Amino acid sequence: MSESFALQALVVTQKHWVARDIMSFELQHPEGQDLPSFCAGAHTPVQVPGGSMRAYSLCGNPKDLSRYQIAVKREANGRGGSKRLVDEVQVGQQLNVGLPQNMFELSPKASQFLFIAGGIGITPIRSMMTELLLEGLRKFKLIYLTRDAESTAFLNEFQAPQYQGKVQIHHDQGEATRSMDLWPVFEKFTGAHMYCCGPQPLMDAVRDMSGHWPASAVHFESFGADRRPKADDRAFQVVLHRSGKTLEVPADQSILETLRRHHISISSSCESGTCGSCKVGLLEGVADHRDMVLRDDEKSDHLMVCVSRAQSDVLVLDC
Ligand code: FES
Repeated sequence: MSESFALQALVVTQKHWVARDIMSFELQHPEGQDLPSFCAGAHTPVQVPGGSMRAYSLCGNPKDLSRYQIAVKREANGRGGSKRLVDEVQVGQQLNVGLPQNMFELSPKASQFLFIAGGIGITPIRSMMTELLLEGLRKFKLIYLTRDAESTAFLNEFQAPQYQGKVQIHHDQGEATRSMDLWPVFEKFTGAHMYCCGPQPLMDAVRDMSGHWPASAVHFESFGADRRPKADDRAFQVVLHRSGKTLEVPADQSILETLRRHHISISSSCESGTCGSCKVGLLEGVADHRDMVLRDDEKSDHLMVCVSRAQSDVLVLDC
């Protein structure tokens, strides 16, 4: 088990709805000890009932290490993890939680921030705004896009005086045609660092509109790797070092799917590049890393086979 995947059992000390279909969970150490520190914007792997791992942003105060807070959107048509977490896990039960990881950190160089959140994408941004409020030095503004007031997590909190003039909430009533036009926000680069988290169509639109901003000033969080095929995805080969077999990975299949098709068993859980369980050694070749868990120093000799692909024609895997 990799260091990034070490689990600790935490007790659920609070559970309550923060919007329609969005449940907040508070987690504490069973003996009241401080939890591992995290920076605003971090996410952590959580083992849901049934054993799968899912990544959730820590949405609480990064300065309060007596507890973690996550908010989970109950996806009735999802893979089942969020539904079971919301429906089955009760106060007093324990959940296995991994170490926080952060690929969405507040830039220490930025003097002002623009946050764009869509739906449950508010979670890492709430933690960032808490940190900036406590710091009291740097300006920020949130544009928060939701379907309606009932589906707006932390709505009362964002209407409180400390957020006056800092938060703009827009409801689209579920109709894309009523979505807010964000172009005026992006037309001129203001010097702010922009952080966007939400559904893929929102992030794609924001990516298009911010294309003329400096790359170092735009940041995206996606609750997992983008698993959609890319236009230039191509087939490649994997050589399995231990058996000497060579397998063809088609352009529209992952390495994990190809291994399964050939009855080769590899641990997996999230299948979205976030849990760390499908890590395989890379002996030769250059990977196209698409996961969210490998550290930079692991990328030359490991890859996550659920999402990552190849830059070279052949990858030799240690399996
Ligand atoms: S199965 Fe979770 S990272 Fe691959």
